[in-house]
Amino acid sequence: MEKAAVLLSAVVAAMSLTAEETALKTAFDGKFWVGAALNERQIMGRNPEERKLIADQFNSITAENCMKPGSLQPREGEFNWRMADRFVDFGVENKMKVIGHCLVWHSQLPRWMNEKLKGQCTRDEAVDIMKRHVQTVVGHFKGRVKGWDVVNEAIEENGSLRRTVWLNTIGEDYLLLAFRFAHDADPEAELYYNEYNTENPRKADRMVKLVKDLRAAGLRIDALGMQTHVRLDHPRLGAYAASMRKFAEAGVKLMVTELDVSVLPAAWRMSADVSRNIAYDAKLNPWPDGKLPESVQKRLSDRYAELFRLFLEYSSSLDRVTFWGVSDRDSWLNNFPVRGRTDYPLPFDRSLHPKPLVKTIEELL
Ligand code: XIL
Repeated sequence: MEKAAVLLSAVVAAMSLTAEETALKTAFDGKFWVGAALNERQIMGRNPEERKLIADQFNSITAENCMKPGSLQPREGEFNWRMADRFVDFGVENKMKVIGHCLVWHSQLPRWMNEKLKGQCTRDEAVDIMKRHVQTVVGHFKGRVKGWDVVNEAIEENGSLRRTVWLNTIGEDYLLLAFRFAHDADPEAELYYNEYNTENPRKADRMVKLVKDLRAAGLRIDALGMQTHVRLDHPRLGAYAASMRKFAEAGVKLMVTELDVSVLPAAWRMSADVSRNIAYDAKLNPWPDGKLPESVQKRLSDRYAELFRLFLEYSSSLDRVTFWGVSDRDSWLNNFPVRGRTDYPLPFDRSLHPKPLVKTIEELL
C-alpha cells in the first residue's frame, strides 16, 4: 500500500512536470509563428526523440542548407529534390509554415553557376540562369512552401549593394528580377528579403529603399527578414529595435529568421559573413565540455528575455521568430567563425532538454 502511494506520487510528480512545460509554439500562439532551421540529419528523422521535439515545439521550419542553390541545382539543369522534398513533406504533415531559404545569394552556389557568372557571361545569360533557377524551384514547391527568402544578404555594411556575381553580371535590377520571377512562379507565395546586422542603420535604410523600389516597379514584397545572429552584449537592443520600427513603418511584415545568441568571445565584431573563418585559439573557447557556468546561463536567459520582450511588443507586425537550429549540439556557431568551438546559442541543450531561457521567455507572457 505504502509502496503504491509512493509510486503514485512519483507518477503525479512526473506528470505535473511535463504539464508545467509549455511548448514554444503553444506559448506564443496568437503572437507569432515559432520556427527552427532543420539540418539534413533532422530532415532524415534519424533521431525519433528529436523529431518529436521538433514537431511538438515548432510550427514553422526553414531549411538550414538543403534548399540553397548548391544543393538544389548541383549541375546545370539537373535538380536534386530529394532532401528538400522530405523537408517540405515533414512541414506539411505537421501543418507547419514552411519557409524556403534561399533563392538568390552569393554564397553556397553550385560551382558551375559560380564559374559561369564569373566568366564571360552576358547580362542576358545571367538573367536566364537566375530565371530558370528561381522559376523551377518555386514552381516545384508551389502551394507547399509558404514563403521564400528571395534574396539573401545583398547589402554591405555601408549601405551599398554587395558586389556579388549577380550585381556584377546583371546590375542593380537583379533584385527586382528575382522578386518578379518568384512571384510569377507562385503568385500565392510570400516573398521576403533577408539580411544580417540589420541593426546597422545604413543597412536598414537600404532595405527600406528596396521595399520602395519593388513597390514602385509594381512588385510585391511581404516581409523583411532580420537574421538576428547576435551575442550577449552586441548589438545594443535599442539599435536593433530602431530598425524594427523602421521596417514596420515601411508597411511590411517583420520576421526574425535566424535567431541565435552566441555566448563565446567575439572573434570579430560583425556577425554573419559566411566567407570568413578565423583560426582556433583556446581563449576563444572557454567552456569546451558542454557545461555553461550558471552566471553565463543567466546572462543568456536575460538576453533572450529582452529580445522576446521586444518581439512581443512588435507582435502585431512580427509574423515569425525562427531559431537557427534546435539544440546547441548542432548550431553552426560551433564552427563559425572559428572551427571546433562549443557554443550555447539555442533553446535546447546538447541532450535536447529545454534550457532555462525557455521558461524565462515563456513567462513574459
Ligand atoms: C549557414 C548554415 O547554418 C551552415 O550549416 C552552412 O555551412 C553555412 O550557412 N546566414 C544565412 C544562412 O542566411 O544560410 C547561413 O547558414 C548562416 C548565415
